[in-house]
Amino acid sequence: MEAAAIYLCQLDELADREARGFDPLGSGQDSVLLVRQGLQLYAYRDLCPHYGDTPMAWRRHAYLNAQRSHIVCAAHGALFEIANGACVRGPCLGQSLSALHVEIRDDGGVLVYL
Ligand code: FES
Repeated sequence: MEAAAIYLCQLDELADREARGFDPLGSGQDSVLLVRQGLQLYAYRDLCPHYGDTPMAWRRHAYLNAQRSHIVCAAHGALFEIANGACVRGPCLGQSLSALHVEIRDDGGVLVYL
């Protein structure tokens, strides 16, 4: 099946080192997390590789640690690199978040491919 591009938001709606969750399929629960780092955006499925069906945030949009240096899973504290989703500390060390392709349109619209 070909990935479909889904509009999430405008780039300027996210500040540097801010993360946000989205429910692009209308499932009633965020399934995609988006993190901005400078002008780069990174999107991942909101599923921790420790237990594959576990959402990451303890409250909506709370995907980053206090220093905003890493994505964190609230369940058991795993830390993931923002830029590649690799787990660098915690129970799923060596595993990675599932990355999604992100595109920024000329008008600043952010698309994710599911
Ligand atoms: S479910 Fe994420 S660290 Fe355990």
